[in-house]
Amino acid sequence: MRMNGYRCIACATPQTVDFAGFLCPDCGGNLDVTYDYAAIAKDVTAGFRDDQNDLFRYAPLLPVREADTAFPLRVGRTPLYAAPRLGESLGLRNLYLKDDTVNPSASTKDRASAVVLRRAMDIGAKVVSIASTGNAGSSLACLAAALGLRAVVFVPETAPTAKLAQALSFGATVFAVRGNYDDAFDLCLDASKEFGWFNRSTGYNPFTREGKKTCAFEIWESLGGRAPDRIVVPTGDGNLLSGLWKGWCDLQAVGLVDRVPKIDCAQSDASAAICNTARRIRDSGATDPDWSSVVVDEVRASTSADSISVDRPRDGLAAVQGILQSGGETVTVPDEEILAAIPEMARTTGVFAEPAAAATWAALKQMLGNDKIEADEVVVCIVSGSGLKDIANVRKTVGEPLLIDPSIDAIKASGPTVISS
Ligand SMILES: Cc1ncc(COP(=O)(O)O)c(C=O)c1O
Ligand SMILES: [Zn+2]
Repeated sequence: MRMNGYRCIACATPQTVDFAGFLCPDCGGNLDVTYDYAAIAKDVTAGFRDDQNDLFRYAPLLPVREADTAFPLRVGRTPLYAAPRLGESLGLRNLYLKDDTVNPSASTKDRASAVVLRRAMDIGAKVVSIASTGNAGSSLACLAAALGLRAVVFVPETAPTAKLAQALSFGATVFAVRGNYDDAFDLCLDASKEFGWFNRSTGYNPFTREGKKTCAFEIWESLGGRAPDRIVVPTGDGNLLSGLWKGWCDLQAVGLVDRVPKIDCAQSDASAAICNTARRIRDSGATDPDWSSVVVDEVRASTSADSISVDRPRDGLAAVQGILQSGGETVTVPDEEILAAIPEMARTTGVFAEPAAAATWAALKQMLGNDKIEADEVVVCIVSGSGLKDIANVRKTVGEPLLIDPSIDAIKASGPTVISS
């Protein structure tokens, strides 16, 4: 294993590889996993192994024991689809969708869960806990079931039923907390300390970012070893965004890529803590401020895109760093536009996104409207969760089926557009 320690995202204080905590003991900041990049560069001159059809093929750049990377379910290696008709609707010539809905539990969260669970097994943990808006919990439950580990999941009581049904089906202990995601997060922290559980909660556990970064590696490979111009990322806690940014930084550090993409942050305007913070810093003229003195905003989140509804982002500082260091945009969109984006994406690509994931398309439309993108830029939207995860919200935007009697006449009576071929 080439991991060689940790470094605080806020104050940059290093920790050794055997440090057992998750937060910086000096300032309480999140930790970033560090590697011996010079050694890894020698290992990966010819790229990554091709005999393994999941994200553990990137083991040289992961905090896992390389000899031990077989995994019972296929996580990662998801398709990057060209989306010409969706792109053309706005004059964009090189639009791609990274379809992470085809992961085992139907969201991008499986990337983080897989790496964290490998880590949990390395240290002999038997019970893994998590606070989640729903997807990360169902993901942990799914992969823990495959590995024979116990999962304890804390969700807000309003979590979409499909996500709850998944977690319960996979046999997790599920606590629906009377409160919001932030209440569930704090309770999971306390309970994990009290009962000695390995806490996978997003951002707080430094290995979640390591799992998410594999999405960048796959985009790089799918594009033939090149970076796109920008990646649009649906953002709540900021861990997916910080992971994608780290993935490109890793590729650059080991000499596999010489330019990195802009990472654009897509949020609901009813849950915009990270965009607000990045804008405030950018407006002050700073692109590389003293990170130890940056305080990430808190909001009262109320978006119906539940996966990105977050008051206090748990990987906010790392996400703000990713946006500013990459030169990405901060885009906040109203919920109506997020919901409308679901069928727009589905009808021109065949990819079915949950509201959070469709926010990327809504954000892209706004960026084009504001002349933030050139027509020939290579753009990737991260489709991070399946539309089947939140049918109640999807149905608000797709209309109703035509209810008819079982007869040809009833079809004819339903209107001329239906039968014209
Ligand atoms: C489908 C989906 N998209 C995007 C996100 C946002 O990821 P993050 O909270 O790391 O910003 C999540 C997180 O739950 C998610 O489930
Ligand atoms: Zn620190």
